[in-house]
Amino acid sequence: MENETKKIILSGIQPTGVFTLGNYLGAVRSWKKMQEDYNCYYFIADLHSMTIHIDPQKRRQQTREAFALLLACGIDTEKSLVFVQSHNKCHAEMGWIMDCCSQFGELSRMTQFKDKSAKHPDNINAGLFTYPALMAGDILLYQADYVPVGADQTQHLEFTRDVATRFNHTYGEVFKLPEGYFPKAGARVMSLQDPTSKMSKSDTNPKATISILDDEKTILKKFKSAVTDSEACVRFDPDKKPGVSNLMTIYSAITGKTMEEIESEFAGKGYGDFKAAVGQAVADELRPIRENFARLIQDRSYLEEEMKKGAERATYIANKTLTKVKKRVGLLLAK
Ligand code: TRP
Repeated sequence: MENETKKIILSGIQPTGVFTLGNYLGAVRSWKKMQEDYNCYYFIADLHSMTIHIDPQKRRQQTREAFALLLACGIDTEKSLVFVQSHNKCHAEMGWIMDCCSQFGELSRMTQFKDKSAKHPDNINAGLFTYPALMAGDILLYQADYVPVGADQTQHLEFTRDVATRFNHTYGEVFKLPEGYFPKAGARVMSLQDPTSKMSKSDTNPKATISILDDEKTILKKFKSAVTDSEACVRFDPDKKPGVSNLMTIYSAITGKTMEEIESEFAGKGYGDFKAAVGQAVADELRPIRENFARLIQDRSYLEEEMKKGAERATYIANKTLTKVKKRVGLLLAK
């Protein structure tokens, strides 16, 4: 699996519900492609999910589902390292060390912290505040070269580089500085009901998001009711026609067609035909994933076995960096 000459890509996804078409086209689908060219490490960020309250039983279930979903989307455990964050104790340990290398001021400036504390004023826990330090630890433990992150996480990646630079300066070179990775094929998918905001798992309007496990009928129905405009012309213009442009983005991401090709394909046709075509393309793309998932989620022992293998390997790799870090900061190593 490991190839010394390949660069390391690392990314995490929170187990906060079934991925949306946005997660899939924006991230997970590229994760699959990257397996061929990089050493890829993907994990379910269950520790990060603790910053928001979720029913414990639900968290367990969502963690298992998220793991199965990655595999169902084509992440191959023969090629990539896939694991659950909390199964590798190095993350929690490294998180504390990173906490002690992070400044109150810089953490206070994180926009995600400001947004989430505004959204959940009754649960502004310390974990929400130190979240970027835990994330920095995730990345630095594996000496990742590239981290594919969405726009909402670029500030955390910048923060990671700042912490790593400071640490290297204070204690001597230990960490590689990770860079952001922005896959060409990554599409930014917007809500089907409010195309000016991003498609989100937590949207309360079920018509706004496509779950990657939605069946064909549901998918077609949701696309049929997607918000467009009254011009009746399929033309790419995200400012003036955000709804239609979003549907074009989705269609282009799946079929590989350019915006010009899509415009001429639907020239003179109404939105009805266009929406049906987009819905059908999405349904066809997601069908095998849904089928894979249905099979995997029933095979509890297979999933547990894969999680165990992933955790062992992740721990082996991360522990090398963690031991170095402990030595550098002067923690006495246990004999
Ligand atoms: N914070 C990321 C998110 O919510 C998840 C995450 C946790 C992550 N640790 C990471 C992503 C390390 C990339 C690298 O999307």
